[in-house]
Amino acid sequence: MSLNIIPAPNKIELYGGEVRAAELPVEYVTDSSFGEEKYVLDIQKNKVTVISKGEKGKHYAKITYMKLTENGNVPLCRITDEPAFPFRGFMIDSARHMQTVDEIKKYILAAAEFKFNVFHWHLCDDQGWRIESEAFPELLTKAAYRDCHGFGSDNGERYGGYYTKAEIRDVVDFCKEHFIDVIPEIDMPGHTTAIISAYPELSCRGEQIPVATNGGIFKDILCAGKQEVYDFCFKLLDEVLELFPFEYVHIGGDEAPKARWCSCEKCQAVIKREGLKDVEELQGYFANRIVTYLEEEKGKKVIAWNETLNSGIVKDSVVIADWMDRTDKCAEYANKGGKVIAEDFYHYYLDYPYGMTPLKKTYGYSPYIDKLNEEGKKNIIGVETPIWTEYVEDFDRMCYMCFPRLIACGESGWTKESNKCYKSFRERLCSYEGKLLSIGIRMADEAEWDPNFITRAKDIVKRWIDCLNPQAISVFLFPNRDEKKDK
Ligand code: ACM
Ligand code: ZN
Repeated sequence: MSLNIIPAPNKIELYGGEVRAAELPVEYVTDSSFGEEKYVLDIQKNKVTVISKGEKGKHYAKITYMKLTENGNVPLCRITDEPAFPFRGFMIDSARHMQTVDEIKKYILAAAEFKFNVFHWHLCDDQGWRIESEAFPELLTKAAYRDCHGFGSDNGERYGGYYTKAEIRDVVDFCKEHFIDVIPEIDMPGHTTAIISAYPELSCRGEQIPVATNGGIFKDILCAGKQEVYDFCFKLLDEVLELFPFEYVHIGGDEAPKARWCSCEKCQAVIKREGLKDVEELQGYFANRIVTYLEEEKGKKVIAWNETLNSGIVKDSVVIADWMDRTDKCAEYANKGGKVIAEDFYHYYLDYPYGMTPLKKTYGYSPYIDKLNEEGKKNIIGVETPIWTEYVEDFDRMCYMCFPRLIACGESGWTKESNKCYKSFRERLCSYEGKLLSIGIRMADEAEWDPNFITRAKDIVKRWIDCLNPQAISVFLFPNRDEKKDK
């Protein structure tokens, strides 16, 4: 049974008939046995009853009710609904290309409509630092700007900027109004070219390097052997976390090539001192020091990308974001009790063309990754879909790439698998075009959503030729090759 709502409510009982919505009084009832996000929306001829534990459930009931009443009449029904997963995230990369605060708010508003509850904000990377800082002013004068626009559309112009603390607080407050937590990501030890350009002493070699202007994976990363690196990270996190009063913080940990660590005396000395096996374990040691600080001094829970598991020694309290795990480490981690977020590259990376990742493929993805046992299934806490912006320079392009695929991820986050149906999703989707346009978001045309075989093949070839630079491919496919060469 289907109403025009995304995500599909988990239980709908139709009483039959409909009534004019404007004439109905609404009664709110508290039920303390409900989960925080659960709601019941009971629409009778003469009144509407909303049952929830508190404000969150009420909020989701309201979103559902507003959609049901958009045409004036509302069907008489009882909806009993709660999410499949507690973590339903969307990520925006504001490091490679920035969005204005107004654009970010539009995106948040759209995500809220589909009952997302986490905004993961990727605020620093090799190509730019984007948070106002008083503790480290050179992040603003140096790390926030790159010499030219880059990423293949080089117009020679300097590119950059950062969000002021006031702007970030404004976004955070906006999210709070929509029951969305904001998780900042401070990616470390890799993807730190911009930071190192401002503070070269934080890298192993201490050499001056420019902010990156192209995509890829860069060899200069934070040195794991220098105490001043840890002091820098702690002080930086102190400052950043003042802006984000939420449960989680994301510390990245992806794509950190170890060439520099292999040939750095200080890194090697830590390996020896701590009895670590190799540079992979050194990344685990690095992560654990940051995690311990965040947990014990700041009271935070920590999220990290799945490469963090490669060391085999990372603290089991860390929540792992599974974007690309070829060796089932995430399933193993979940089976042993570790928490995992499903963020699969092949299904949820919205910067890839529809030809590579059609809507149906995104929709059909099961967050229950392979090799999970019953315990492991319980430890998949949710889904997240990122938009990386190397090749997404403006907001129109971003909307085209993300809508409607973000909406498909939203349904997987909320609607239990047994209640999902692609045909029904497609039908319901059409009723959202007007709502999204009223927010300022234009979806990709329907003809683009599920392209045919030829378009798909073309997109795959084009993407690999145009977008991935040879350095990125080589480090990605042969992570150890450069290390050997460098020694
Ligand atoms: C990632 O896409 N490097 C997390
Ligand atoms: Zn080092």
